[in-house]
Amino acid sequence: MSEREPVGVIGVGWVGLVTAAGFAELGHEVYARDILPEKIDALKRGEVPIHEPGLDELVEKNRDRLHFTTDMGEVVSNAQLLFCCVDTPPTYSGDADLSSVERVVEELGESTDHALVMKSTVPVGTGRTIQRRRAEVGYVSCPEFLKEGAAVADFMNPDRVVVGAGPESADFADRVEKLYEPLGAPVVRTDVASAEMIKLASNAFLATKISFINEIANVSEELGADVEEVARGMGLDERIGPHFLRAGIGYGGSCFPKDVSALKQLAGNSGYHFQLLSSVIEVNELQKRRTIGKLQKHLGSLVDKEIALLGLAFKPHTDDVREATALVLAHRLLGEGASVRIYDPVALDAAGDLLAGATISGSAEQALDGADACVLVTEWPEFRELDWTGTVKDLMRNPLVVDGRNFLDDEALRAAGYTYEGIGRPAASAVEA
Ligand code: UGA
Repeated sequence: MSEREPVGVIGVGWVGLVTAAGFAELGHEVYARDILPEKIDALKRGEVPIHEPGLDELVEKNRDRLHFTTDMGEVVSNAQLLFCCVDTPPTYSGDADLSSVERVVEELGESTDHALVMKSTVPVGTGRTIQRRRAEVGYVSCPEFLKEGAAVADFMNPDRVVVGAGPESADFADRVEKLYEPLGAPVVRTDVASAEMIKLASNAFLATKISFINEIANVSEELGADVEEVARGMGLDERIGPHFLRAGIGYGGSCFPKDVSALKQLAGNSGYHFQLLSSVIEVNELQKRRTIGKLQKHLGSLVDKEIALLGLAFKPHTDDVREATALVLAHRLLGEGASVRIYDPVALDAAGDLLAGATISGSAEQALDGADACVLVTEWPEFRELDWTGTVKDLMRNPLVVDGRNFLDDEALRAAGYTYEGIGRPAASAVEA
């Protein structure tokens, strides 16, 4: 096999497009297929449909090697390694919806020259089921660990590459490994089920870390400790590590909520009650709602109060609003009778009808003008740059800030006369005492 292996990508969403552009950057011809003609047409014109730092440039730079198509035949006739990157959203039962994966499997020809390389996050056991049905096609599990907002950098510098395959697909797995070789990351070569579990267990563990530190934050508020200091002190223990110990108003996004619930559900379906994950999910749901209590503590009833939400995207540097905490908050606030204004630098278009009832603001200042309180939901860097002690202070009707990400300078805000509520940071009275 030549150094430059043509790569097929099926499903050009966020994972598919980053994967396609990444392999093109490594010098491979990439045949990327999506069923949505308008998406493919846009990509052919060089328009990138998602906000992901560095992705526009990568697509533009590698335009000659990126072949976007709606035709599965074009992919299959040009590439043998077919990276499956279609979505697997949660169903109402909490299981993963595998209908897009099923469609891809149906479309595969009966070729022994091809392998399906599963990047989509699927329940443990999916690979085995597919292999039973399509024994002639090779199968490799190669789960995705990219973070939105840092996906291009993550593709180029992965912590590890996981390649799972049975003995019958060992040659294909070798070829997948080879594709990633220039990145110099450790490769975990394993069986398919273990690779599938590595993905779910990694996300579930990271979500557990977040819910854990959020509970420490909540207790710290009661006991007068500062969770930022606590996390710093904990994180220096090598066994704990400093990452994913940022307390906040709960995790969101298309991955953690879905994958934690999928793993819990999967365990349940097999007869095992995964008690810890039930708590991780519950803590996260409650964490989103604690903000309402913090607002009520200072404002009393929220009826007719003007609340400004800064940030809508589930995290900065993305326009993804799936499972975004801001959506839950906006609807809870509307339910309490408050008026909600919301501003986000990039994600407002993506929200569409999801924000019905709330007012979309054209700038942070517009959202804050006349507000009774501000809730910082997403830690976009530009929110730190606002003139909090000058313009913003003058604009707000009541200087109350609930900082859902412990992102702002609490001392400066308090000194300027704000009532500041962070997450797991001592309240003003405790500091003064
Ligand atoms: C996550 C994983 O980090 C990736 O490794 C994985 O590939 C991806 O899911 C996936 O399965 O596709 P992502 O959802 O893009 O990536 O974003 P993260 O940076 O992990 O953040 C997830 C959520 O946790 C965000 O809402 C963020 O605000 C929150 N978070 C993160 C915290 O509240 N505290 C932290 O310390 C870290």
